[in-house]
Amino acid sequence: MKHSIILLGSLVISDITKTIALPHPDSSTFHPTIKWANCSTNDPPRLQCGQMTVPIDYGKPQGGSMTLHMARLKSTSKGNAPLGSLLINLGGPGAPTAALVKDIAQGEKLFSDELIANYDIIGLDPRGVGESYPIKCDPNMWNERANLFPTTEEEYEKLLDHNKAFGESCAKLTGNLFNHLDTAHVVEDFELFRRAINNGGLNFFAFSYGSQIAIQYAEKYPENINRFVLDGVVDHTLPETATLIAEASTYEATLNEFFSWCNTSSDTPLQGQDVPALWDNVIRKAADSPIPAPACSAAGTCASDVTAQDILINAQFALAGPNITNTWPALAVALTQSAQGNATLLSNVIATTETYGGWAFLNIACQDWLHESSSVSDVVAKNRMSTALFPHTKGASESYYAQVHCLGWPAPTSNPQHMLEKKALKAPPMLLVNALHDPETSIMWATGVHKQFPKSVLLTRIGAGHTSYLGGSFEGETRKTEEKFLLTGELPAQGTMLDS
Ligand SMILES: *[C@@H]1O[C@H](CO)[C@@H](O)[C@H](O)[C@H]1NC(C)=O
Ligand SMILES: *[C@@H]1O[C@H](CO)[C@@H](O)[C@H](O)[C@H]1NC(C)=O
Ligand SMILES: *[C@@H]1O[C@H](CO)[C@@H](O)[C@H](O)[C@H]1NC(C)=O
Ligand SMILES: *[C@@H]1O[C@H](CO)[C@@H](O)[C@H](O)[C@H]1NC(C)=O
Repeated sequence: MKHSIILLGSLVISDITKTIALPHPDSSTFHPTIKWANCSTNDPPRLQCGQMTVPIDYGKPQGGSMTLHMARLKSTSKGNAPLGSLLINLGGPGAPTAALVKDIAQGEKLFSDELIANYDIIGLDPRGVGESYPIKCDPNMWNERANLFPTTEEEYEKLLDHNKAFGESCAKLTGNLFNHLDTAHVVEDFELFRRAINNGGLNFFAFSYGSQIAIQYAEKYPENINRFVLDGVVDHTLPETATLIAEASTYEATLNEFFSWCNTSSDTPLQGQDVPALWDNVIRKAADSPIPAPACSAAGTCASDVTAQDILINAQFALAGPNITNTWPALAVALTQSAQGNATLLSNVIATTETYGGWAFLNIACQDWLHESSSVSDVVAKNRMSTALFPHTKGASESYYAQVHCLGWPAPTSNPQHMLEKKALKAPPMLLVNALHDPETSIMWATGVHKQFPKSVLLTRIGAGHTSYLGGSFEGETRKTEEKFLLTGELPAQGTMLDS
């Protein structure tokens, strides 16, 4: 499936006092409206595109505005959608959602007929993402590839210099928006959207990092929630190390599931082999000297050699799916070829434009999560811990990526992780969904968020893969349970576990 759902990670608590509470957009000065029009001259039936103007900086709401873009697939019912609008967010941060809704309108079967009959489905690209003024950065600087595992003072300083210079290129090319990308701003945008569509409480189907938007929305506007489903849950309250350990441990555990799957599945060239040893060997070889990626050299679209860092980071995406029926066999092929000296399938993409999609992740994560290391010895200590606890994956998770790639970043951490305000307790029962072996959003995070919203129901899928709805089959019980809640408001029993 071509839509990527990515996660995010990292955190700490000491800087909490620096959090700036954004003002509530004042109803007397803000009259949010959405201008709907055709998306193109030959739209499929029922597809429309919308635009809504919002302030760039809610701290200075008169100081400049920007336009958010969205796509809407009108319900197949005659007249108005029986259940109103359902806002979708695919997460990332940085995954475009308007494009997903356009694909559904073109006939891609991602949502069931019942959901499409009962709701207008809306994909609103958050600020800096997709069609909503995507963040721009210098591609050449990016392609230099930072070493995220510094072991010397010199390597550490080089990483910080790289992060700073790259971030400054984003600031220069993106303009004032660069400093106002945090999730607190996205929450205000979504509240303006809710007021503009004017159908009472917000219905929100949030995937992965989208759950962080949902949670922060629930913290600020609990009374404005109707039905919220959070599929693949991010906990934005934990310190940095706890965040890392949560994600890295489920990455490692899911990789072990993959090893067992390889052993037994006829769908892989690795069947019957000692796959853990093969994996460790590939990582060791790549650490000694990068493995060539010959097809990349020919095409120029990916890097011509592949480091251990690249493999550790890129393999996590393959394990995540969300449709692991596709991506696990692909990972097995990638590892087999890498062991033979061809790591093409695990090579990094080369950015060729100023709007490469992967940059939103970093730009948003750096403003949402405190980056705690303050010396090379902090980073080395963290990696020593990770290598001891997670011997195959060494902690190289998305959380780690943000924790080290944000060091030296030129934008402030304006929305750091924090304990939720008491007001959040007013949120109505929400449905939280997480797989046990989700290598990106750890079951530990879902469990923590469930505790923060005692009225919520946590539905656990006994299985692997990141999120459960989009990669799951229409016959899957988890998927059916999510739909039932969206269609009827009926929640599963507390503690429900499903194996499909
Ligand atoms: C918008 O699209 C619809 C359906 O394709 C078409 O009937 C209509 O004329 C279009 N409107 C405009 C203003 O182009
Ligand atoms: C794979 O299978 C072999 C032989 O059946 C067994 O010894 C080994 O422990 C298995 N490995 C894993 C990771 O399941
Ligand atoms: C390397 O792997 C890629 C991807 O599977 C493949 O397209 C290419 O032909 C391989 N190249 C060599 C030289 O084996
Ligand atoms: C997942 O991939 C398999 C294999 O390509 C495919 O048959 C199945 O329909 C996919 N599932 C979803 C939900 O896209």
